[in-house]
Amino acid sequence: MNDYSHIQKQDEEVFASLLGEETREREGIELIPSENYVSKAVREANSSIFTNKYSEGYPGKRYYGGQFYTDIVENLAIDRAKQLFGAQFVNVQPHSGANANIAMYFALLEPGDTILGMDLSHGGHLTHGHPVTYLTKIFKFIRYKMKDVETGEIDYDEMRATALEHKPKIILAGYSAYPRELDYAKIAAIAHEVGAYAVMDMAHIAGLIAGGVMKNPFDYGFDVMTTTTHKTLRGPRGGMILTYNNPEIAKKIDKSVFPGLQGGPLMNTIAAKAVCFGEALKPSFKTYAARILENAKAMETVFKAKNIRMLTGGTSSHLILADVFGSLQVTGKEAENLLDSVGITLNKNAIADDVRGPMDPSGIRFGTPAITTRGFGTKECARVAELMIDTLTNREDKTKLEEIHSEIKSLCEAFPIPDSFT
Ligand SMILES: Cc1ncc(COP(=O)(O)O)c(C=O)c1O
Repeated sequence: MNDYSHIQKQDEEVFASLLGEETREREGIELIPSENYVSKAVREANSSIFTNKYSEGYPGKRYYGGQFYTDIVENLAIDRAKQLFGAQFVNVQPHSGANANIAMYFALLEPGDTILGMDLSHGGHLTHGHPVTYLTKIFKFIRYKMKDVETGEIDYDEMRATALEHKPKIILAGYSAYPRELDYAKIAAIAHEVGAYAVMDMAHIAGLIAGGVMKNPFDYGFDVMTTTTHKTLRGPRGGMILTYNNPEIAKKIDKSVFPGLQGGPLMNTIAAKAVCFGEALKPSFKTYAARILENAKAMETVFKAKNIRMLTGGTSSHLILADVFGSLQVTGKEAENLLDSVGITLNKNAIADDVRGPMDPSGIRFGTPAITTRGFGTKECARVAELMIDTLTNREDKTKLEEIHSEIKSLCEAFPIPDSFT
């Protein structure tokens, strides 16, 4: 257990919630592909004294005094991120992935400009132009899609034709629910042919790119990347924007993050980002990234053997999108609730061309970053996949579900959440 002694003395209600969450995380299997367990070092930095400090501006150019140490940690975070992703310019101040995307749009576009991104039902994120966001009041979003949802192949011919017709200013890659590699060279070539920026939102796979097990878009001509720092990268909740080599773009991005969108940076979070990037630069992070993929493949093998339909036919990344409604006649929401009841957390998810509505779609989305951090190997991941399918196929059998829950608890006891990864 962590030391919450001051909260315990001062605030019983918050203390009770912290204890509850500790137990939930300890005893349950976390399969939400955008979640992870951070090291104690990251948490120490995140809850550190830097939360007291106002640091509007950038290192060496702040609006307030007393910035000696904040400048050191922000520069450390920037330098480590540059090294991790091969970028010449990095802004580590975005409070979240959504903020990073919003700041990036306002840096690169004028109101009314067009963005060509993945169809949202094929894996794009809310900030890639969902009508519920304010972004769609300001910019015009148009779409490309997968050519074949059974293989995941993107329709690059359609992308090019749409780009030539609509002349977008950004072509956006990177998604929340798409499990395959992309042809970055093709996307960058199409973008540059029509005078657009090639931008990658690598939020989901930043850790896999940093760990060298998925391709780095900067190696294939991309101009800018946005990301979160809390998913596969295993850092604090936060965002970041990286520019490959163009100082003019980088300047616009800095102005857009602050003062354009945000106020004072969260210096405690930036210190935690620096710690996280330091961890990701270690050779052991490469091993971690490789295991995430192996573990996802082990789960894919079980789902395939049991004839459960997976969108794109499986995975080349950390996540799987399974059509549980089509395969097992259980809805995404029912599956999420059932699995929750046996100690497995994941999320319902719409699948491409879903026959059901977004609040109770046909799919579930799950992934291996958190269980891999916990030390699960391919054997344990295959077993988790079997237990998931057992749960969904024995949903009326209370005794069976109790047995599954107790096996999950034992598995979690055998693999405690680690404090550090070195
Ligand atoms: C691809 C992608 N971009 C951006 C975001 C937004 O990140 P945040 O929740 O930190 O705002 C997410 C989060 O799920 C994401 O998957």
